Amino acid sequence: MKLVLVFVLAAIPICCYAGDDSSNCLAMDDVIAQLINSSVPVDDFQGVIKSYARLPYDENAVAKVKECYLDQSEETLDSYQVMMDAIYNSEDCS
Ligand SMILES: *[C@@H]1O[C@H](CO)[C@@H](O)[C@H](O)[C@H]1NC(C)=O
Repeated sequence: MKLVLVFVLAAIPICCYAGDDSSNCLAMDDVIAQLINSSVPVDDFQGVIKSYARLPYDENAVAKVKECYLDQSEETLDSYQVMMDAIYNSEDCS
């Protein structure tokens, strides 16, 4: 799971600056939301990544990442959202 997250973070240029409005993190939020939403099929997720990616990336890897999340239970996906919220709300990320 950690590797998966690292991959997603690396594929998207993130411009979340401390002290800035959280709108800078919209792209990342959107990708995470699409990733953990079990109603979003692999193809749709590819489209989301394509719209944000500024660097070449491996589409097969993106599909594998999404498939990995689709295999998780709703409970696991909910926990993932809780974890992301905790990270975003932590002092180091405010
Ligand atoms: C999940 O994705 C579907 C299809 O795009 C969307 O209708 C739904 O609102 C999303 N659910 C959440 C919790 O974002």
